[in-house]
Amino acid sequence: MKGYRHKLVIAMLLACVPLDGNTAVNVAENHVMESSEVVLRAVLKKNTRCLKCHSREKFKSLDDGEQMSLQVLPQAYLSSAHGEVTCIGCHEAIGNRKHPSRKTNIAVSSQREYSLQLNQSCRNCHTGKYTRYEGSIHASLVSKGNTIAPLCTDCHSAHAVESMAVYKPVTGLPCKNCHADIFDAYAASVHGKARKNGNVIRAGHIQAPVCANCHRAHDVTAVAFGDNLKAECLGCHEDVKLAHDRWLPNAGLHLDVVSCAACHAPVAERRIDLQLVDNITRLPVGGKQGHEVLQKQLEIIDQADGNIDPLRLWNLVRQCGQQDKALNITLRGRMEVSSGAEAHRLARSGLAVRNCDSCHQSGSEPFEDVVISIIRPDGRTLHYQADKEILGSMASVGSVSDFYVLGGTRVKLLDILLLLAIFAGFAIPAGHFTMGRIIRKKESKGGQ
Ligand code: HEC
Ligand code: HEC
Ligand code: HEC
Ligand code: HEC
Ligand code: HEC
Ligand code: HEC
Ligand code: HEC
Ligand code: HEC
Ligand code: HEC
Repeated sequence: MKGYRHKLVIAMLLACVPLDGNTAVNVAENHVMESSEVVLRAVLKKNTRCLKCHSREKFKSLDDGEQMSLQVLPQAYLSSAHGEVTCIGCHEAIGNRKHPSRKTNIAVSSQREYSLQLNQSCRNCHTGKYTRYEGSIHASLVSKGNTIAPLCTDCHSAHAVESMAVYKPVTGLPCKNCHADIFDAYAASVHGKARKNGNVIRAGHIQAPVCANCHRAHDVTAVAFGDNLKAECLGCHEDVKLAHDRWLPNAGLHLDVVSCAACHAPVAERRIDLQLVDNITRLPVGGKQGHEVLQKQLEIIDQADGNIDPLRLWNLVRQCGQQDKALNITLRGRMEVSSGAEAHRLARSGLAVRNCDSCHQSGSEPFEDVVISIIRPDGRTLHYQADKEILGSMASVGSVSDFYVLGGTRVKLLDILLLLAIFAGFAIPAGHFTMGRIIRKKESKGGQ
């Protein structure tokens, strides 16, 4: 990279010299060769000792029986962003011991274990990026033992680190290696297409987003109800509310309780998500705000079979409420698309859902699929399938963004509203009976 940049500068300088014949061109080319070679050689010298052995195809036997390749391709390394970084800049341990030597050679349990250890090395020079990464959902999964969540090198590689500026805007995204279905949906979306076509639509103004524009690259957070992501949308589409006000009554309310994708991914299936939230902080239950007892219980159930049916969940919340008087939980409703991948299938706005009846008619499609969701200990959302009849006889109510069930009667709704507001505190027998009955009915149908 550095060598290349150097070459470019010289080439640019020489471009000012009149090219009055072949001799001048040859001189210029030789000059470029020599200078870049000087740079290359200086860099090479630092790492030659290591590369003398490590440019060869050799393997090390690991404790798990696998073979670890010891080969580092010199050319790829030297032309990488780290071309001028010494090997022991990251492999500090090697610099501090006799290597290789039968006496000091270390045992490595697995390739992943080795990557995990060495991941720390990036911190030395990229402290800011490292700190951000440490707060991410990816790092939190790694620390909980997930073996496929990414380390720095899973996105950047260890010995062929490129500047992200040279990444192909869409096809070179590191995210696609692990989130292939989402990548495909994104690539075919209005954003993916605009990005691939060099942003022909609003060139020079706002670029269409890649994954990291909406999710960030290092401090990727879990997607809980999409609130933080909505803010990202509004960051680029500043006048969204105005645009919707023109045809949609109460546009503000709609934008709060209907996810953008529920209208803008017209082919996607939609559903109602009822999320358990703390009635006071308005934060999702199971996050980090004092639901330790509940969280522990959820973890146990999650580890046991990963399947909490609504009745179990309901009882659990009530139990925890008795142990911890402050627990005051309610449900917050939102209309969203049925899968993470679908949320990325955004189309041109001319295709967006605008037909009032598609939502405001009793029994309309989105109300056929209902889930209850909580936040797992690792920060991700867990959805439990619920019976759609839950909607027919109760409302999930947040005092801020009220979400009534369309097509249901308001009187009935108010009853349930009362029930939910005091969900875990003082149970109202009649209300509890209603909820219990609905859920039991669902269970007897096969308890999916
Ligand atoms: C004389 C050849 C030779 C040289 C020079 C050499 N290595 Fe190695 N390297 C090896 C061999 C052989 C192994 C495998 C050791 C084993 O099986 O335990 C190895 C293993 C490694 C490993 C894998 C982890 C480990 O500790 O086993 C790393 C990383 C490494 N070398 C980096 C370096 C660096 C950095 C340098 C330069 C400072 C260097 N090597 C110089 C031969 C060499
Ligand atoms: C930017 C930090 C960094 C630099 C600089 C670096 N390495 Fe590594 N190296 C790593 C990491 C991290 C791993 C662990 C493997 C992974 O995560 O992909 C690794 C692994 C290795 C291994 C074990 C085989 C493997 O791929 O896992 C060898 C051998 C090695 N490096 C040699 C070198 C040599 C020789 C140089 C210098 C030419 C060098 N490294 C420079 C970060 C670095
Ligand atoms: C999930 C994939 C992913 C992981 C994990 C990741 N990065 Fe990145 N990194 C990216 C992307 C994408 C970019 C470019 C976009 C951006 O910064 O917004 C980037 C940019 C960078 C840059 C700046 C490059 C540039 O051209 O601006 C550095 C330095 C960097 N990462 C270092 C690290 C370090 C150190 C770690 C580990 C602590 C790490 N990255 C972990 C995806 C990742
Ligand atoms: C010894 C210091 C050092 C360590 C350790 C180190 N880097 Fe770097 N890194 C650099 C330098 C120097 C650059 C070149 C900066 C530039 O070109 O602007 C760089 C550049 C990068 C870039 C491209 C940034 C850009 O702006 O082009 C990425 C990505 C990156 N490093 C990732 C990593 C990862 C991942 C690790 C750990 C495996 C790591 N680095 C460890 C010093 C280091
Ligand atoms: C090496 C594999 C890997 C790479 C590369 C990777 N991820 Fe992930 N990511 C995971 C795993 C594993 C999970 C947890 C399981 C899941 O939710 O799919 C996860 C979870 C997530 C989540 C949280 C999902 C939720 O349920 O809330 C987001 C958001 C995310 N990744 C975005 C990204 C972005 C953006 C990139 C690229 C900058 C990226 N990932 C690159 C493996 C990866
Ligand atoms: C325009 C902004 C945007 C872009 C670009 C984007 N996402 Fe998302 N992503 C979202 C939104 C919004 C959601 C949440 C949907 C919801 O729950 O309402 C989401 C959800 C996710 C999830 C969680 C899925 C689940 O099952 O819950 C992952 C993982 C993810 N995105 C990864 C990616 C990857 C990888 C890319 C690039 C290929 C990408 N995203 C590009 C906005 C974006
Ligand atoms: C109830 C359905 C619905 C919801 C929810 C919705 N939209 Fe729209 N949106 C539409 C329709 C329909 C249009 C097309 C309006 C027209 O053509 O006049 C549109 C137009 C747009 C446009 C083009 C605006 C313009 O100036 O032409 C953007 C950008 C947009 N929406 C973004 C968003 C974002 C971001 C969200 C979430 C915060 C969102 N929309 C939520 C239905 C919706
Ligand atoms: C980094 C800036 C950026 C972010 C973040 C972003 N967009 Fe976009 N969006 C664009 C650009 C650029 C276009 C394509 C150019 C155009 O059509 O005006 C676009 C196009 C669209 C369109 C089609 C508009 C039309 O007129 O047909 C919709 C709908 C849309 N985005 C919705 C969203 C939603 C929903 C989110 C959040 C999940 C989001 N955008 C996040 C920049 C962004
Ligand atoms: C994608 C689904 C969807 C579409 C399309 C949609 N709405 Fe809504 N609308 C909702 C949801 C969900 C609510 C919030 C539930 C509630 O408060 O009753 C809502 C709320 C409302 C409210 C406020 C109700 C109240 O009680 O305060 C009005 C008025 C309304 N919509 C009118 C319309 C009209 C008129 C259209 C067509 C131009 C439309 N909506 C299109 C889903 C939709």
